[in-house]
Order: sequence, then C-alpha cells, then structure tokens
Amino acid sequence: MNQAALHRLLALKSSDKTPETLFDLRLSTNLSLIQNLFFSLYPEEKHGSSFNGLLRLLPELYHSRPKELKHQDLERMLSGNWYQSEKIVGMQLYVEHFNADLKGLGEKLSYLQELGINFLHIMPIMTRPKGENDGGYAVNSYTQVAKQYGSQKDLLNFTQTLRENGMYLMLDFVVNHTSDEFPWAKKARKGDEKYQAYYYTYSDDAIPRAFERTLPEVFPETSPGNYTYIPEMERWVMTVFNSYQWDLNYTNPKVFLEMLTQLVNLVNLGVDVVRFDALAFLWKKIGTISQNLPEAHTLVSLFRMCLQVVSPGTVLLAEAIVAPTEIVKYFGTGIQHGNECEIAYNASLMALLWNSIATKKTRLLYKSLENVPIKPADCTWLNYVRCHDDIGVGYEDEFIQEIGWSPHEHRKFLLDYYCQRLDWSPAKGLLFMYNPKTEDGRITGSAASLLGLEKALDEKDSSRIKESIAKIVLLHGIILSFGGIPMFYAGDEIGTLNDYSFLEKEDKKEDSRWVNRPYQDWETIDGFSKKKLPQYQLFKTLKKLIHIRKEHRVLSDANNLKLYNTGNEHVFVFERTSMEKNGMLILCNFDENPQVLNGSWIMKLGYFTKGEPIDLVSENSISLKSGLLQLDAYQIIWLKKS
Ligand code: GLC
Repeated sequence: MNQAALHRLLALKSSDKTPETLFDLRLSTNLSLIQNLFFSLYPEEKHGSSFNGLLRLLPELYHSRPKELKHQDLERMLSGNWYQSEKIVGMQLYVEHFNADLKGLGEKLSYLQELGINFLHIMPIMTRPKGENDGGYAVNSYTQVAKQYGSQKDLLNFTQTLRENGMYLMLDFVVNHTSDEFPWAKKARKGDEKYQAYYYTYSDDAIPRAFERTLPEVFPETSPGNYTYIPEMERWVMTVFNSYQWDLNYTNPKVFLEMLTQLVNLVNLGVDVVRFDALAFLWKKIGTISQNLPEAHTLVSLFRMCLQVVSPGTVLLAEAIVAPTEIVKYFGTGIQHGNECEIAYNASLMALLWNSIATKKTRLLYKSLENVPIKPADCTWLNYVRCHDDIGVGYEDEFIQEIGWSPHEHRKFLLDYYCQRLDWSPAKGLLFMYNPKTEDGRITGSAASLLGLEKALDEKDSSRIKESIAKIVLLHGIILSFGGIPMFYAGDEIGTLNDYSFLEKEDKKEDSRWVNRPYQDWETIDGFSKKKLPQYQLFKTLKKLIHIRKEHRVLSDANNLKLYNTGNEHVFVFERTSMEKNGMLILCNFDENPQVLNGSWIMKLGYFTKGEPIDLVSENSISLKSGLLQLDAYQIIWLKKS
C-alpha cells in the first residue's frame, strides 16, 4: 500500500481527531520513509543536523498552512482520488494570452464552465527577468505574482473562486532551476559562497568539461552547452536549459530544505496540483546523461512524502518528457511504489498519436503502449494532444525497426511531414531545435495547424476543412476516453491556428514554441451565433464529448484499459472495461479512407447483445454490414455497452 492510501485509512479511522493530531499521525507514519530517503541522499554521518532541521521544519510548515486548506485536505483524504475521476477535464493556458490577467481570466470562467472545464493549468505567473525568460520558466520568485498578471490578492481571490466553483488549479514548481536573477543567484554572483553552493558552480572548467562529455543539449540552437561562465563571480555555473536558468544543486541538503519551504508556500496559495517541472533533471552525475538518475527519484519521493505530511490534499504531476518506460517510474517503483507523483504526462501517447496521424497507421502506437508497465492503482495520466512545448519524435528505435522502418528515416519523414517539407502534407508546423548535422529536431505548431486546418482554410477547401475538424475531434476523443485527466490546450477547442506574431518579438523570435501559444480568439467565439462556422461545430462536438465523459464512470481511471489489436493497421481500438458489464469501446480510424473491422469479436464482447448500440459521438446506431463495422475517414466511435 502506498503512503497516500495509508493516510486515507488513518483519516477514516480517526475522523474524530483534530487536524493537528492527524498531522502527528501522518508524520509518524511517513517518518521512517522520509528518514531513509533523506539519508540515502545526504549520509547521516555528515548531514545528521540537516535532518534535524527537516524535523523542525515540517511542523512549522504545517502551521503555515491556511485553516481552510487544512480542512480541504481532510475532506480530500476521506473522499478518494478526485484526480482519477471522469468528472475532471482540464485546460492549459497562458493568462496573458487568454484574457489579459488574473481578473480577466476570472471573468471568463463561465466560458470554461460551459465547455466543461474544471481543472486549470495556468502557465507561470510569478516574477521573472525582463526580456528572455523561457515563458516564465526562469523564476525570480516561487510565490510572488508578476505585476502584469495582477496582485497577490488577485491570485488568492482567484483560487478562492475556483474552490467555490468546484474547480482545481495546477501551477508549476520549477524545481530544477531558478533564473539568474533569483535572490540566491544574485548573492552567488556577488561572491557569497553559501549561495554559490546552492548551484553547481566551479572556479575552472575541468568539471564542466567532464560533464559535457555525456550531457546532451536541451536547446542546442539557442543555448548550446550546459555551462555558462559568469565573469562577475569568476565561476562556471551549470545551465542545462537556457544560460539564464541556473540548475539547483540538490547534493546540498540546504537546497532541499529551502525548496521544500518554497513548495509549501506555493501550495498554500490554494494550488491543488503541483507541476514538477523538468524533474528528470534533478540529479547530476559525471559520466551520465544526468536524467532519470535513481537519486532524482529519491528526491522526488522525499518531496512527496514531506508534502503529504504537511499538505496531504495536494498532488504532484511529473513533467518527465522521457522514454515511456522511464516516465512510469515517476509514479514510484520498488519501495517507493506509488510514492512519487500521482500524475504524469502521458508524453508517449501524445507523441504516438502524432505518429499515427502522419503515417495513418497504428502499429507503432500499439507496440509502444503494449510495452508500458501498468501504473500503480492510485496514480493516473495526464493525457494531452499537445502542450505549450514542442512535440518530440523520440520513439523507441527497436519498435520502429520491428515494424520494418528505419528509425532515422522515419524521424526525418515525420519532421518533413509536419514542418512543411512535403507539398502534399496538410500540416503546417515549424521545426524546433533542428540540428542539421544529426538531422534531429522537434515539431511546433497548434493542434489545428498541424492537423491541416490552416492549409485547408487558406485554400478554402471545404472537404479538407471537414477532414481536419474530424482529426481534431479524433485526437481529443482519445484523450477524453483513454483514462486519466484530459488536458486541452486553450484555443484547440475552437481550432485556433498558429500564431506567427512571435517572429516580431525580440525576446521570443528564436523560440518557435511561441507559434503554438496563440491568443484566445474571443472574436470567433463571439461569432458563434453563426452556427455554420467550422470552429463552432468543433466546439459543440468537443463540449458534447466532455459532457458525455462526465456521465460515464467507466471513463474514470481505475487501470481499466484494454487494447484490441484488430489486424487493421489504420485502426486503434481500446475498451474501458467495467466489472458491472457497462464498458465502453472506443474505435478510431487514422486513415483518410473508410476502414472496416470484423464485427464478430465486438459482438462477442457483448456490444450488440441488446440490439444495435449507439455511438455516443455521432448519436447514430451502429449496424454491421456483411458482418463488418465501418469507420469513416478519421472517425472516432464511442460504443456504450448497455
Ligand atoms: C519544462 C517546460 C518548458 C521549459 C522547461 C525549462 O520542460 O515545459 O516550457 O522550457 O521546463 O523550465
């Protein structure tokens, strides 16, 4: 049993106890685990006093938690895992691109509620350097709201409003690095050795050079290398992402204690889910790629176990955009099973869906998904079509080869297909961080532009417009039914196209991810009275699917997913199974032509027992013709077993 489940049990058994007593209970149940994790990173002989510091810190942090949130914590412990519920549907947005600032966002809650969104991922809103700041992922503070978004009070009012409306909030915790203007970095620059030891800083480049031998580059075009020389401090500092993002040195236990304090201060603002940004990079070791190291997992688990004691209603999301078999490890393995993050980005599914769109085939999708180990029962996925970042093509070489393709050629094809190097491709994406020597690169673009809507609208090609809308529905229909939290990117619900305005902005033009971070198009939304608008049709369909999802418990995540390999290489089929015999079968056609499936196995599964079943998406009943079930081009069917 993982610790969260244990706490739930304790809370249930002790519901007559005060919140303080329950805190003591949680601390005592987690203590030995916390101690083991801490000493495995920071050996007792050297760091015993730091551990005592942690023991003093935890009750202080608990006392700093607002009363209302303490009560909410208890309610959540008693009511089960809200984040696995079918009722949760998320949207990710930049406040300034959505509706100006926090107050503006508050004014648009009714739009989100109409669509069915009740979980928001708000992109970074804390203070950051002027000019380049990686979209706020270079933080000057973990809790101070940047003026452009409003005041601290505005944020507190906003989180209060969300709670009153039964909505949840996710904010980022940029756990791997701070900006070079963060107070610690400023002191380090001035020569303060205590703070120089908060980062990986070196007086000469011997160690940096040793690291560089095996460290890959995250932003090779704009920020090559992993170290930056700071003349003012006469030292090198590790900067794995951009040169203005300094990597925190977690081998120093003081950094852990300070960051835990920052984390609790953040969640005390009313944050329900903490997005642990770039957590795969948390531990570094010479001779390795310094990603996914066992110590990084230990550290995540240590954060988790401490947070659970202080603020048990808060959950963690792993932002680990790494190989599928590595991602699941962020749920916790071995003794840490289920004790790292409750949620993880399903980056594998996301990337595979884009592969299936380009190839119109699903074999790689099946092969990869079939090889993902089952996740712990209390954990779930965050399923998404695309996010604010680029789309990578890092599929397992082995699987690509098994299908009979060359991994290198295949990746090249995908970049060509999405990044406007093939005349016939409907996609209009941009290349991101392309390396001409290796021909490696990633893809940027809004969902609609990558799925052909931009080109189809330019060419006023109504059948292509229809096709592209079908593809947008197909991908969103999958993330809504796959199991986990579906996360929309703001604007994709109305087919918003690429935004090329970043090219005119000095601090953004080098980073093509801004092409897929468009402004919310209120003009189009205001024009919804013109019912024929394709954008309106899309919005209406997605809204319908969201509401259907919420009415079907079988779509909550209970590890109840079964894949069916039908033999038709264009089709993807999965079932959300249920003990109560009311499962749901999801059938998806990735091809531009209609495809058929043998209906007999669907009959055997019991979907035709009570006559022709209804497809919840089209609201049509499904019949077999000559024993075959037909899917139209890019059609998705949600078949309900009744
Ligand atoms: C995460 C964010 C990305 C950012 C990076 C560095 O991957 O999603 O936008 O550039 O972390 O903070």
